[in-house]
Amino acid sequence: MGIQIAPSILSADFANLERDITAVAAADWLHVDVMDGHFVPNLTLGLPVVERIAEVSPLPVDAHLMIEDPDRWAPRYAEAGASSVTFHYEAAADPVGIARDLRSLGARASIALKPRTPVDVVIDQLAEFDMVLVMTVEPGFGGQAFMPDMMPKLEALRAAADRDQPSLWLQTDGGIARDTIETAAAAGCDVFVAGSAVYGAEDRTSEIEALRALAAAARTAHA
Ligand code: DX5
Ligand code: ZN
Repeated sequence: MGIQIAPSILSADFANLERDITAVAAADWLHVDVMDGHFVPNLTLGLPVVERIAEVSPLPVDAHLMIEDPDRWAPRYAEAGASSVTFHYEAAADPVGIARDLRSLGARASIALKPRTPVDVVIDQLAEFDMVLVMTVEPGFGGQAFMPDMMPKLEALRAAADRDQPSLWLQTDGGIARDTIETAAAAGCDVFVAGSAVYGAEDRTSEIEALRALAAAARTAHA
């Protein structure tokens, strides 16, 4: 798999969600941020909305769960139609158990690390996951500044994945835009979430294509 772009509908117009979902059909994934007001201070949407989004979306849904008790709830998002479900390490009682449940439901199993969580917590268990999300902002809100000091985490995961599990995807989320995507790509990222960069652009299709081209060139240069 090459470079993949996942627009985050956190920056979409929630009163015109179907229109704004269709507007990013040139991308690879539709990134849906589920926030519960506890794990993060913000509150967005939940299962019934994700289920309906999955029905209308031309792209597979990448659900990013910023919620407590993912052991209980993550499988429900796979059942609701999310093709990839990301839960946070910091909220999980049994991360490997959750990943196995997700895979048994046919979803890709993905684990997210907040900025202060080291890669050590997953690096010996990469085979249990299909993707690792390295957060490049504190989760909770769109439009924050990209944290370049997360790049050593991506590089460490890239090296481990290349050695032990080449099918693992690495994702970054937070502050990804034309001026930061090359840095993340050079560090080994495959899947780039972009909320404000895509939805803030006049032409969403050309923004997605520009981001993909920048990432692909940076990734090739550092391969
Ligand atoms: C933040 C969310 C992101 C958010 C990114 O906690 O997980 O997906 O939408 O927004 P930007 O791309 O604007 O930083
Ligand atoms: Zn997200």
